Amino acid sequence: MKYSDNFDRLSEALEGAGAFLVVEDKKGRVNVMTIGWAQAGFIWGQPIMSVLVRPSRHTHSMQENAPYFTVCVPRRGEMKKELGFCGTKSGRDYDKIRACAMKLKDGMVKGLKYIEGCGLVYQCEVYGKTSLGRENISAEALEKFYPEGDFHTLYFGKILKADNFL
Ligand SMILES: Cc1cc2nc3c(=O)[nH]c(=O)nc-3n(C[C@H](O)[C@H](O)[C@H](O)COP(=O)(O)O)c2cc1C
Repeated sequence: MKYSDNFDRLSEALEGAGAFLVVEDKKGRVNVMTIGWAQAGFIWGQPIMSVLVRPSRHTHSMQENAPYFTVCVPRRGEMKKELGFCGTKSGRDYDKIRACAMKLKDGMVKGLKYIEGCGLVYQCEVYGKTSLGRENISAEALEKFYPEGDFHTLYFGKILKADNFL
């Protein structure tokens, strides 16, 4: 599908129970974390998906060394338990794929995996990143979202493929 198709479902998921961010490290280990913050749009002349990951997440240490990530959006009302688990437990303590009995599928390039059974899948290649800091966000956001710092890193992913399994 075109990356912008089903934007409404992506937004609905992000504003609701969330979506999955899937990252594979160089040794082929895969971790899944629930995300509520992401943007799909057009930057640098191409479709880009950006995700925001706090440094305290295990996913962050993996993404720092990984060239790809996938955003997987469950169908409406599905995988709520898995979203809850992957959004509260860390890959440092659990093999979340196993614990949730999720099945992974190979993406279009080596190092890219996605979760079987999700409605929308965005396979992305890291194209850039930047870190938020005290000096570049509003006082309101600082107070509301960063009382302990842990400023998000934004990873910009070039959308290699967007799939619709809705
Ligand atoms: C609905 C929901 C949305 C979330 N969105 C984000 C997000 O966008 N960025 C982030 O850094 N953490 C987010 N989290 C928190 C992480 O999913 C959570 O800390 C997770 O346990 C991290 O896993 P990890 O340590 O394996 O990376 C969210 C949690 C939930 C429940």
